Amino acid sequence: MADINRNYLDLQGSYLFSAIAKKVREYSETHDSRRIIRLGIGDVTLPLCHAVTEALHKAVDEMGNAATFRGYAPDLGYDFLRNAIAENDFKARGCDISADEIFVSDGAKSDSGNIQEIFGPDNIVAVCDPVYPVYVDSNIMAGRHGKYNDATGTFSRFVYLPCDAGNGFCPDLPKEKADIIYLCYPNNPTGAAITKAELKKWVDYANSTGAVIIYDAAYEAYITEEGIPHTIYEIEGARECAIELHSFSKNAGFTGLRLGYTVVPKDLKRGGTELRSLWARRHGTKYNGAPYIVQRAGEAVYSPEGKRQVAEQVAFYLNNAKYIRGNLEAAGFTVYGGVNSPYIWLKTPGNLSSWEFFDELLSKAQIVGTPGSGFGAHGEGYFRLTAFGKYEDAVEAVSRIKETAF
Ligand code: MLT
Repeated sequence: MADINRNYLDLQGSYLFSAIAKKVREYSETHDSRRIIRLGIGDVTLPLCHAVTEALHKAVDEMGNAATFRGYAPDLGYDFLRNAIAENDFKARGCDISADEIFVSDGAKSDSGNIQEIFGPDNIVAVCDPVYPVYVDSNIMAGRHGKYNDATGTFSRFVYLPCDAGNGFCPDLPKEKADIIYLCYPNNPTGAAITKAELKKWVDYANSTGAVIIYDAAYEAYITEEGIPHTIYEIEGARECAIELHSFSKNAGFTGLRLGYTVVPKDLKRGGTELRSLWARRHGTKYNGAPYIVQRAGEAVYSPEGKRQVAEQVAFYLNNAKYIRGNLEAAGFTVYGGVNSPYIWLKTPGNLSSWEFFDELLSKAQIVGTPGSGFGAHGEGYFRLTAFGKYEDAVEAVSRIKETAF
């Protein structure tokens, strides 16, 4: 008889955003769902910009013509896209990353879940708390988690790095051994940014211990302040210790189109082996490449019109973030994030737990957000709102929150 992967039985509850969607579906069955404002999952609402749709149309026509049709894409990505990424996201920022260190994929969520496959089963994984749940769940599926403690909501083999208002949501270096360290900045869910000086401490730590940092830069387009690194490769020494994940979802609205990339520098070696060669092998074996038309759409993001149009979209969401943050703060809420990030992270009012506030907000104000505790024990008592909605929704949501007694 086939045995199952029993690690899956250790996963806690259902995937956070599926659990929220289920609650909202149930609520909608008995209430007028048209009143609901969705500021939960970080999904964009603006349509794809013109430069992107134009590139898509052109690529579709090419695929319908025998002379220009393309079959399987190169499994690591087309050179036109890898070159555009290397040029714009790295060389333009003075970072030494070449096209052959860039692996194109169908998105940062898949890469952040899959990257752990190139590491051995006994590595100790360190994650921020609160944290994007994919890093934790994918390592549980691979059996790196140990025993679950109901009282603390933690697994014995993970190292949790508490992020709270006291440390500006940027964790202290671990006291215990940590082999694989996940960092995400600008941070999901807290909306915090990390300075170059802070990030340098992590790079130095990893280089001195042999740990590998998996740096999720999905939200870098939202950085508005000086001195905040857009990529970990702005930090000296990162080529020797860091893998970086990127998304086209949050900057260019590709949540429904799917495109992302991962950087694995040639200098990143452990046990004498280049990690890049392992990731290339994994890609080659398990993946047939992101669709040609989507890669052309990705290339268009780097054209002069694409850059301008995408920057306008990011500015639109940042304006929502500013509105939500500023007005909730003025109404007496304790609020974080929303400056270098599309996420606003607030303290729940009146000592409500994160899920209690979720339920009250849905039933009293018909607003959907994300409970902080869904991201980890240290997220308890916090709540995340996204700025990816429509401006009118941001205004209406703030007004409903202000009018509601919690
Ligand atoms: C989120 O809401 O945290 C993100 O949208 C999830 C994701 O990007 O997969």
